[in-house]
Amino acid sequence: MDARYQQIARLLKATIASGELPAGSRLPSSRIYAQENGVSRATVEHAYGELVAQGWLVRRGQAGTFVSENVTAAKGQVSPTPAEARDNAPLPFQMGLPALDLFPRALWARLMGRRLRTQSRFDLGIGDPAGERELRLAIVDYLRFSRSIDCTPEQIFLTSSYAMSMSLILRTLARPGDGMWVEDPGFPLIRPVIAREQVQQLPVPVDENGMDIDAAQRLHPHARFALLTPAHQSPLGVALSLPRRRQVLDWAARTDSWIIEDDYDSEFRYHGKPLPPLKSLDAPQRVIYTGTFSKSLFPAIRTGWIVVPAPQVAAFRQQAQITQCTVPGLVQFTLADFLTQGHFWRHLKKMRQHYAQRRQWLEKALIAQGFSVVAQNGGIQLVIAFDGDDRAAVARANQAGLAVEALSAWRLDSQGSGGVIMCFTNVTSGAMADALAQRLWRAVYDGK
Ligand SMILES: Cc1ncc(COP(=O)(O)O)c(C=O)c1O
Repeated sequence: MDARYQQIARLLKATIASGELPAGSRLPSSRIYAQENGVSRATVEHAYGELVAQGWLVRRGQAGTFVSENVTAAKGQVSPTPAEARDNAPLPFQMGLPALDLFPRALWARLMGRRLRTQSRFDLGIGDPAGERELRLAIVDYLRFSRSIDCTPEQIFLTSSYAMSMSLILRTLARPGDGMWVEDPGFPLIRPVIAREQVQQLPVPVDENGMDIDAAQRLHPHARFALLTPAHQSPLGVALSLPRRRQVLDWAARTDSWIIEDDYDSEFRYHGKPLPPLKSLDAPQRVIYTGTFSKSLFPAIRTGWIVVPAPQVAAFRQQAQITQCTVPGLVQFTLADFLTQGHFWRHLKKMRQHYAQRRQWLEKALIAQGFSVVAQNGGIQLVIAFDGDDRAAVARANQAGLAVEALSAWRLDSQGSGGVIMCFTNVTSGAMADALAQRLWRAVYDGK
């Protein structure tokens, strides 16, 4: 049987589809709807949130919740635009996903439309294999101001994903059989990419100061690479301490090894000053920095980049002729406009404010429910501590439609405590957070 919120969502969809609630009409507030229908406000919020995620409704801040203008009438039927009709709304807590409701899609469409209209016939050819210079220049400016990284556009190589960044790095610098320190626990999806390049992954424990560099040197003295998420360790959220930053840089300089710094969500910190990225301290020129627009904009943009040390530019360029940037020129030029016209800064500022709020909603709701939330200093994920079999608990939550993940599934060798990992970015109200926390508790502890 459907949960109550699903019944409400279905009823609302049917009312919209019948034309009774036309595009643009305002819905009653969740408080009024709840009172009139004898359900909890959290349930109504949850139903509204689900329909917002699917594109049927839009929220306009204080003004309220409205039927989306994209819902168009056709032959007496009303349906969302074709793209939104696809039932591909993400499940609650979906990992690695930014807030999809906050991206300024109309602005993006305008910028892209302008680029499309002003294209010349020369834009129809293949672009630079390292990515369009205009975008690389915009990224140089962004890195200088936001991350204190000083580099030239020649040092930047655009890629379509973190996986492609990793392939480009390893195809340029690694030899079969090389060893790589990897964080344990750490991001599992990159492991097959590293394995495909025949680089051996050497697990290193993570503590409250990030990767344990002493342990790494003791356990695996002959590694040639170190892969780290220094800003917010993925998934534990801790920052690599300054002494450890110095230590890993010294190690790389002394042993002629390479550090790969995955700075995937450094944009999102909510208090305190960030520590400088390893790349900004890279006097020995041993750091390759990887960045992405997947978290700061949206994942479907499929655009990331790497910054390589100046002496390696020629080798990377040669490899880039084979492992070419596949991001379409139109996307690259639109992105360049988005950055140079100041929209990126504004968007990040807005996202930070919303994320601080959304994280607080979820954290509060989880704690009120009885969960123990592990402290994190930023990022877009939350971890809750879990005693016992976290994989079984997560399987029950997945069964209940919640896309959480088990901390133990992110571990290689380490035997640390269990946990449940989740992303809070698409929790759009306190009431939705309460409803989700309740659902999670029931699924995890009662299997319902
Ligand atoms: C740890 C980590 N690094 C990098 C990325 C970026 O991946 P991509 O640019 O391929 O979306 C992600 C995305 O989930 C991530 O979780």
